[in-house]
Amino acid sequence: MGTLHVLDHPLLQHKLSILRNKDTGVKEFREAVNEIAMLMCYEATRDLPTEEVQIETPVATATCRVLAGKKLAIVPILRAGLGMVDGMISLIPSAKIGHIGLYRDPETHEPVEYYCKMPPDIAERDVIVVDPMLATGGSASAAIQFIKNHGCKTIRLMNIIAAPEGVALVQKDHPDVDIYVASVDERLNDHAYIVPGLGDAGDRIFGTK
Ligand code: PRP
Ligand code: URA
Repeated sequence: MGTLHVLDHPLLQHKLSILRNKDTGVKEFREAVNEIAMLMCYEATRDLPTEEVQIETPVATATCRVLAGKKLAIVPILRAGLGMVDGMISLIPSAKIGHIGLYRDPETHEPVEYYCKMPPDIAERDVIVVDPMLATGGSASAAIQFIKNHGCKTIRLMNIIAAPEGVALVQKDHPDVDIYVASVDERLNDHAYIVPGLGDAGDRIFGTK
């Protein structure tokens, strides 16, 4: 089964409390999502492979480590995942970006796909799927399946807040995928919203409510 990594860095937890506050405005909310994405990216890439190289400093030869292995792609789930992209590419500027458009049907809570555009070499890249919310897990599971259908082998999932139900679904459907979250909240409510959560992430990032 994929490992669930709950990231408890104090800076991350402090910024998460800003997101949860119902009085946080759009500007501050967006900034916090970006900063959280950057901090989470740092933690989720901890095990990337490196190789030794020799670098000439002005003084002597230094043995250093640089990234090795496959290149990365970041795949935000639209819309809310877009809010995490800038934070991610501030640490991994050469990552390519794929987009998957999914929304939850308000009645059934099932994901409905409306857009997809992947980099042509996506199968040769390691992928980090980003979306602030993992609620029922339907959207993330469908997105991961979609990316696997494009030939990707190594996929990580990064969510700011998860419900236990969403974690369980992704672990069942995709036992090879590691999940990185800043919090696993209590539960889902009758509308499949995360409790206590932060409300509707897309609406709060884009100011649509
Ligand atoms: C939200 C969120 C996830 C999804 C999580 O998106 O950003 O994509 O719900 O729910 P799930 O785990 O139950 O599938 P939403 O469908 O509201 O679309 P939006 O980002 O366009 O607002
Ligand atoms: N999507 C959101 O934006 N928030 C939730 O709590 C659940 C799904």
